Amino acid sequence: MAQPTLKIEDLHVSIEGKEIVKGFSLEIKGGEIHAVMGPNGTGKSTLASALMGHPKYEITGGKVTFDGQDLLEMEVDERARAGLFLAMQYPSEISGVTNADFLRTAINARRGEGNEIPVMQFIKKLDEKMKLLDIDEEFANRYLNEGFSGGEKKRNEILQLMMLEPKIAILDEIDSGLDIDALKIVAKGVNAMRSPEFGCLIITHYQRLLNYIKPDKVHVMMQGRIVKSGGPELAERLEAEGYDGLKKELGIEDDEVVEQEA
Ligand SMILES: Nc1ncnc2c1ncn2[C@@H]1O[C@H](COP(=O)(O)OP(=O)(O)OP(=O)(O)O)[C@@H](O)[C@H]1O
Ligand SMILES: [Mg+2]
Repeated sequence: MAQPTLKIEDLHVSIEGKEIVKGFSLEIKGGEIHAVMGPNGTGKSTLASALMGHPKYEITGGKVTFDGQDLLEMEVDERARAGLFLAMQYPSEISGVTNADFLRTAINARRGEGNEIPVMQFIKKLDEKMKLLDIDEEFANRYLNEGFSGGEKKRNEILQLMMLEPKIAILDEIDSGLDIDALKIVAKGVNAMRSPEFGCLIITHYQRLLNYIKPDKVHVMMQGRIVKSGGPELAERLEAEGYDGLKKELGIEDDEVVEQEA
């Protein structure tokens, strides 16, 4: 099997006419874990939603390929079926659809008609992954995310990840709202996915998560694009200094100042 690759080149994304992502480039391959850090409002979630094909986000420039195919030409469901996965910063609640039903439908959509997962195999897999993530059995039959606590939603996103086994996953603030034990469990889930067939982009504010999931590369996103890339030591530096030191070093001015000058 070819190594999965998501290649983002000079991507520009606008929302309601305002440019948010301004020339973002990054290549993620199977076997790699990348972390993106950056101040609030810098466009991290916008990037993730645009890659999944959210209709509100308008792509105004650049190119994205997924395993050599033009991702931006693919329908939303096609992207998921091809093996792209997004764990959202704010997972939505779906009333009337149980967690187990949702997962089985999503898995079967990926496998295609005539190749559905046998029910017993599905149950066994679900049981195994729920145990690994320390999720109580009752969650299989609860409506998707309805009434789930913040941390339970995040853990459930990792359950989806492990059940769907995508080629490339984007995890948007999967660590927000997690207690220390849950953080370790979520990290265990992501680490269990590590293989040459799986690549991952982790969006996070805190270096803490990266103690448990060792990224190969750390990127800093500011004002809609990557302004610096490095190894895990870059996350440590940000944790210690915040973003001001880096802004000074790179000669980046605050957004407001730039807009006033324009
Ligand atoms: N649907 C929308 N309508 C209007 N503005 C939006 C919408 N989505 C995002 N924005 C704006 O785009 C900018 C970037 O938002 P985004 O959610 O991508 O930031 P972020 O980097 O994920 O921030 P955070 O770290 O707080 O999650 C913000 O100024 C936000 O208000
Ligand atoms: Mg965000």
